[in-house]
Amino acid sequence: MNPQTLSLRALLFLGLWHAGRRGLASAPELRDQPKKIAVVGAGIGGTAAAYFLRQEFGAGVKIDVFESGTVGGRLATVKIGDYEYETGGSMIHPLNLHMKHFIEKLGIPPRKEVSSKMAIFDGKELMFEESDWFIVNVFRMLWRYGFNFLRMQMWVESVLDKFMRIYQYQQYGYSFSSVKTLLHAMGGDGFLALMNQTLEETMIGEGFSQIFLNDIVAPITRANYGQSVRIHGFVGAVSLAGADSGLWAVDGGNKRVCSGLLYNSKSELIPARVTSIAVRVRPSKKGTTASFYEVSYVGESGSAHSLYDIVVIATPLHQGKYDITFSGFSPPIPSHYPGHYHQTVSTVVHGLLNTSYLGTAEPASEFTVSDVLTTDSKGSVISSLISLNPVHIPAGYTQPPASQAKVWKVSSSQPLSQEQLQNMFLSWDSVSETRWLAYPAYRSPHRKTPPFILHNRLYYLNAVEWAASAMEMSAISARNVALLAHHRWHGQVGKIDQEDLHTRLRGEL
Ligand SMILES: Cc1cc2nc3c(=O)[nH]c(=O)nc-3n(C[C@H](O)[C@H](O)[C@H](O)COP(=O)(O)OP(=O)(O)OC[C@H]3O[C@@H](n4cnc5c(N)ncnc54)[C@H](O)[C@@H]3O)c2cc1C
Ligand SMILES: *[C@@H]1O[C@H](CO)[C@@H](O)[C@H](O)[C@H]1NC(C)=O
Ligand SMILES: *[C@@H]1O[C@H](CO)[C@@H](O)[C@H](O)[C@H]1NC(C)=O
Repeated sequence: MNPQTLSLRALLFLGLWHAGRRGLASAPELRDQPKKIAVVGAGIGGTAAAYFLRQEFGAGVKIDVFESGTVGGRLATVKIGDYEYETGGSMIHPLNLHMKHFIEKLGIPPRKEVSSKMAIFDGKELMFEESDWFIVNVFRMLWRYGFNFLRMQMWVESVLDKFMRIYQYQQYGYSFSSVKTLLHAMGGDGFLALMNQTLEETMIGEGFSQIFLNDIVAPITRANYGQSVRIHGFVGAVSLAGADSGLWAVDGGNKRVCSGLLYNSKSELIPARVTSIAVRVRPSKKGTTASFYEVSYVGESGSAHSLYDIVVIATPLHQGKYDITFSGFSPPIPSHYPGHYHQTVSTVVHGLLNTSYLGTAEPASEFTVSDVLTTDSKGSVISSLISLNPVHIPAGYTQPPASQAKVWKVSSSQPLSQEQLQNMFLSWDSVSETRWLAYPAYRSPHRKTPPFILHNRLYYLNAVEWAASAMEMSAISARNVALLAHHRWHGQVGKIDQEDLHTRLRGEL
């Protein structure tokens, strides 16, 4: 053995020994897992956070999930006759991998597919109606819009390609401290630039025609986000992906994923409204001090409070409805961040559609359009009109034509007046209205996005909605916040906000 290898070995040994020592010295801190974690909100974001937090912190930690309303949040159903129908978040993209993973893990099947047929209403008549013949649709579209359609598909696909990188990063345990660094890791400056421009500006810049934007793109953004092509480019791309084929939903209702994740994560559901969160400092056993979060809440049996090591806020800090007060923080944490949420009213009607309202001369018995999108015209009160299928498709089910009473969902930004309903429907036997504060009112250029990290161990999941609001976005944010909470707890800064992950991980595929 020559001396060089020896010293190398010795060095290596020393190095290892040293690392071992360091490991030992900080071991109590390392092994000290958090004891209690609170999650505020049991929508898909909060329940996914509970699931991923359990994954990160193991079986020993107690996870409490507070919910003031119903588990599922913006995923909700309404019962009409014998069946239930989605009134909130309804469709999931085939490449939404977290949502896919959840239903596989929980053993819930996707809902059986029912064919659909789309039309576009300009406020007077149906300017486009999908044919049963695929080739007819292709020719109609080519005739009117040239290759805009194909180009749109390619553009959305290129955004989606980059978007998908997040799954690999998360698989390797990487997390991001802000919406900006998360987007940048996926799509570089290009993604940040998307948030800086309207969808309209972005697409005109990419060479799409204004008529294509008005006739096709606007109806899609109106149907998905109740807003025009002036939303920013990133949420616009997400919205267009929402017009892809192969969209799916969860059998029995999307909200089943939330209750499933709660159960799977062995968290405790506390049916109460969180009113305030305060930071408290307590002396610890070791003679030093430790800080906790005191969560105050109001439930059926009155008000109470508990201390937590980590808190995840999984509800928008924007609505005026359930304000949470933050006290004792410096710098202070506001109850509301700038901007507001867009109202979308879902009116679910079981009745007979007045097909003349859509300006069609087709007899109702032959009118089989299921999804009516609308252009951004002055007089248009509705953003979409969808023939709903039940959350569970019974055997032998087919969508009846418009000549039969069936369940329609009208989406609008204002509640429908009696007069408007009477105009749209010849008759009905039930109407159920849900007023959602549905998703952010997107502006461009986008103002400062709220932070994921509100304080040392206090996290805000719904900041992600300002990039785009969707079930999968909340799930991605949930995983990110769980990783972030874990890495920050253990001081593993190497797993936070790493630059250039895409190139670094390329070899690992
Ligand atoms: C009409 C509509 C259609 C949509 N369509 C789609 C779609 O097709 N596809 C898609 O992917 N997404 C869609 N979305 C968006 C999607 O539904 C949301 O992005 C997603 O459900 C948000 O989930 P979340 O858990 O982050 O928030 P939420 O679901 O809002 O969950 C927050 C929960 O916190 C609770 N809470 C609030 N304050 C407190 C408090 N102080 N204490 C305790 N609990 C509290 C609330 O009751 C709520 O249950 C749609 C949304 C709407 C409204
Ligand atoms: C966004 O726009 C602002 C102001 O126009 C500009 O200063 C900034 O560089 C832009 N950011 C990106 C990522 O394009
Ligand atoms: C159906 O719609 C047409 C067009 O809006 C309207 O003129 C007619 O009055 C409506 N029918 C009923 C019964 O309300």
